[in-house]
Amino acid sequence: MLLPNYMEAKTRNKKIYQKEQYHLAKHLKNKYQGKTFYLKTYGCQMNEHDSENIKAILCEMGFKEVDEIEKADLILLNTCSIRENAHNKAFGILGRIKHLKQQRKDILVGLCGCMAQEEDVVKTIMEKYHHLINFVVGTHNLYRIPIILDKSIENRQQEIEVFSREGNIIEDMPISRNSKYKAYVNIIYGCDKFCTYCIVPYTRGKQHSRDKEDILKEVTELVKQGYQEVTLLGQNVNAYGKDLDKGYGLSELLEDVAKTNIPRIRFVTSHPWDFTDDMIKVISKYSNIMPSIHLPVQSGNDRILKLMGRRYTKEEYLTLFHKLKKAKINCAISTDIIVGFPGESEAEFLDTLSLVKECKFDNAFTFIFSPRKGTPAAKLYDDITLEEKEERLQRLNNLVNKYFLENNKKLIGKTVDVLVEGVSLKDSNLLFGYTDTNKLINFKGPKDLIGQIIPVQVMEAKTWSLDGEYHV
Ligand code: SAH
Ligand code: SF4
Ligand code: F3S
Repeated sequence: MLLPNYMEAKTRNKKIYQKEQYHLAKHLKNKYQGKTFYLKTYGCQMNEHDSENIKAILCEMGFKEVDEIEKADLILLNTCSIRENAHNKAFGILGRIKHLKQQRKDILVGLCGCMAQEEDVVKTIMEKYHHLINFVVGTHNLYRIPIILDKSIENRQQEIEVFSREGNIIEDMPISRNSKYKAYVNIIYGCDKFCTYCIVPYTRGKQHSRDKEDILKEVTELVKQGYQEVTLLGQNVNAYGKDLDKGYGLSELLEDVAKTNIPRIRFVTSHPWDFTDDMIKVISKYSNIMPSIHLPVQSGNDRILKLMGRRYTKEEYLTLFHKLKKAKINCAISTDIIVGFPGESEAEFLDTLSLVKECKFDNAFTFIFSPRKGTPAAKLYDDITLEEKEERLQRLNNLVNKYFLENNKKLIGKTVDVLVEGVSLKDSNLLFGYTDTNKLINFKGPKDLIGQIIPVQVMEAKTWSLDGEYHV
């Protein structure tokens, strides 16, 4: 049993991590042939990508994936801690699982992901869910799932293995990708920014970068397999390479990835603080680096930004924003915004609205501040009522939505490049895909376009999507 420890999780050292090759112990290969699993993923792209590894690992053990929880012998929850409602969702599904387990006692239940790194969550699992959850594995040791899972079955007891600190980088994990056209590629793990509201530096550990050779090998392989798009992933991709101290950072990496000739490159997420001019140069130079950048601002007020520990002012953000818009033609910029940070006044909130009015974002993810235990912001005095926060969120959403629609309308009549991803879930007569600026577009066309990048004329604009026409 290895439990999470927050004091350890927030420490940082100068250690340079080695890499290790993944391998599955011989006796576990296909040991569970005939058994099924259901994997539920919450949270960000990082978790989605981890789930692609977990699926492949379970398949190597002989499990087969099922889409219905009722049909599964193993239920695994890959969880997220970012806000209280992410927690509630995971704990909510446990009620349903409890019911299933009453009917079939042999169902195995596991929990991994960011919630596994939280002291309180693990305590609750040990005390209240002792009979329901068979095993818990943290974010730093996903590759140990086979061993922990097997141990919990063999020993018929709850197994908990959570490392509080990151370990070596594990290369060559098997992967079962969700798409044949778009792929996530990790470039950096963890985060050292410690924004005061955020739990990620505790759940994902110190920032540590993958070797460029491993990243480029993965991208080259994806190109060979016919992939059209890669998204380089990290909590703060701009910090790529800083821990390796080789003078090779994100701008160099982006350039080398662009040279592999993969048709589309995206990257998330960029912290505005270390967005360098070199990065901007590379982004504007290569047409396969997509004109779509996620640049979370969080707030438009300097006092709140300071309390958040974001290390930039509204002016600095705006300067960067306009520099990017100027350097990369037709660049769409999206953002994240938090309302109701402890003590945020009405006037301070209005500063956020005024920033939105200036930036007219193409997309924005908006949230009410959610106190996360162990983070500095959770201890701040907060006199803003939830009602007021909800009302602010509503006002903010009305404003951002207005600009989504305005920006989309500007595309009417234009022809845009679209990576066609499949048949629309809402209407089987339509195909759907994403424009270079990452906007969802629906249009009529033959199914053999799926997986290709094609020109589509925009005919109609809605707040969250476009309708187009494909001309042969
Ligand atoms: N690494 C990314 C953010 C990952 S979390 C970055 O720095 O941009 C995604 C978003 O969740 C954040 O940008 C922030 O807007 C929001 N978020 C994080 N912690 C939060 C909290 N405690 N309450 C509300 N929103 C939060
Ligand atoms: Fe969280 Fe800030 Fe790190 Fe993003 S940069 S993951 S918001 S601490
Ligand atoms: Fe959630 Fe962890 Fe991602 S907290 S947002 S799953 S890094």
